[in-house]
Amino acid sequence: MKNNIVLIGFMGVGKGSVAREIVRQSGMIAIDTDDIIESMENRRIKKIFAAEGEPYFRELEQRVAKWLQVSVNDTLISTGGGFFKVPKLKKIGTIVLLDAPFKTIYKRIIDHPNAAKKLKKRPLFQEIDKAQALYDEREPLYKAVADVVIDVSGKDYESIAKEILKKTAQ
Ligand code: S3P
Repeated sequence: MKNNIVLIGFMGVGKGSVAREIVRQSGMIAIDTDDIIESMENRRIKKIFAAEGEPYFRELEQRVAKWLQVSVNDTLISTGGGFFKVPKLKKIGTIVLLDAPFKTIYKRIIDHPNAAKKLKKRPLFQEIDKAQALYDEREPLYKAVADVVIDVSGKDYESIAKEILKKTAQ
């Protein structure tokens, strides 16, 4: 089993913010699958979805997953909300699910000072009903694949990060 920590969870649950706090506390090096895809393509996720469609984006995620499986160790990896569906996810490292009810996630996004931007960059979060349906479909699948489930509701990033580091320590 590899030494990486892989953060999964629904769009807007706070994977990026938690990753930054884990870096602050542990000094681990962090990478993000969406950032890697944007660098590979030299364009934003939103543009990739609009120009090529979702299946193309999912292929890119699979390419990134293969690279992570073969070449990356001792790293904190945050992922896009659908990345958990790549084949052999668990070969990448310890899978940590950031879990919260849909309402909590939605509130976190719309309460953010940059809410409009946060929504705009997420092609699958354009309509609340569709986002809720996607959440309902994925929630059991996230839980099935996770090695560690962290309920993030009502917790600050500092305690979430601490909990993750404690539960993944070897
Ligand atoms: C997606 C989540 C996004 C991004 C893409 C698809 C998804 O990442 O990968 O828009 O399928 O849930 P975030 O979870 O960081 O928003």
